[in-house]
Amino acid sequence: MKVLITGSNGQLGSEIKALASEYTNFEFVYSDLPELDICKKNLLTQFVIENNIKGIVNCAAYTAVDKAEKDGVLAELVNAKAVENLVAVAENQHLKLIHISTDYVFDGTSHIPYSEKMPVSPLGVYGKTKRAGELQVIYSASNSILIRTSWLYSIYGNNFVKTMLRLGAERESLGVICDQVGTPTYARDLAQACLEILSKSERLDTQGKVYHFSNEGAASWYDFAKSIMIMGEVDCQVNPIESKDYPTPAARPHYSVLNKSKIKADFGIQIPYWGDSLCDCIDILKTEKFEE
Ligand SMILES: NC(=O)c1ccc[n+]([C@@H]2O[C@H](COP(=O)([O-])OP(=O)(O)OC[C@H]3O[C@@H](n4cnc5c(N)ncnc54)[C@H](OP(=O)(O)O)[C@@H]3O)[C@@H](O)[C@H]2O)c1
Repeated sequence: MKVLITGSNGQLGSEIKALASEYTNFEFVYSDLPELDICKKNLLTQFVIENNIKGIVNCAAYTAVDKAEKDGVLAELVNAKAVENLVAVAENQHLKLIHISTDYVFDGTSHIPYSEKMPVSPLGVYGKTKRAGELQVIYSASNSILIRTSWLYSIYGNNFVKTMLRLGAERESLGVICDQVGTPTYARDLAQACLEILSKSERLDTQGKVYHFSNEGAASWYDFAKSIMIMGEVDCQVNPIESKDYPTPAARPHYSVLNKSKIKADFGIQIPYWGDSLCDCIDILKTEKFEE
């Protein structure tokens, strides 16, 4: 079965590429900008037909949360309109589709981990455009799955882990937000979950179903940063600060831990604790630095 990975140069797409050789049932086709812009419906459809694609994992997205506040048109195009294109091609060509969304569709007022049934109410433009994309998948007739995830990091691309390691090496101390709690998620673990689901989903009726996936446990950005410094062996003092003292263009939920019971029950997926996965990622980053 031929599977198209869109946005394959991003964090999740790159982790799928790294794991692909373990999934010999699939032949993967990778695409990203500029060669395949998923906003271009005709191009996308032609690409899918010409390459005999039977499944898509959509890793493409507009992910700049703060920039989206001023760049809503492009965010909407990539996070919502392009998802409509993917859903249409999945329906017409009878493809499996895995689409990824975000914990930022929630407003953060919950005190218990968010289940898939809890109401959404995105605070910012990014979350609103991702929610619009979700609705395309939820109401589609395609064999599709929507997976919400949170706080992604990986050895690829730019992310909080790499930023903290870099800033930690440059500065003696750093202030990091302590009143936003969520779960850091290693994109490699999410990539593995996507590929497991893809392997199993032939036997399941998955039409527009929503699932949550993040690593296990919870942390504030402050806890996350402290762990990065300790595991990265970086001598930098991390100080807790409140969101009100670090204003950003986009408001973010104060609490966005996801409940993963459904994905574990339906697909038998084992989810690592966030600290263990962070340790694995930092070990790779350290080895790469050592080999440079
Ligand atoms: N990062 C997080 O913390 C986080 C948290 C929760 C959920 N998510 C979701 O998880 C998914 C994967 O995120 P990620 O961190 O792997 O994203 P990422 O690293 O930003 O990668 C996204 C990729 O999509 C590409 N892309 C953008 N517009 C495109 C278009 N029109 N056509 C084709 N490709 C396009 C980007 O190219 P350019 O770089 O050239 O734009 C980039 O290579 C996304 O759906 C995201 O919303 C992410």
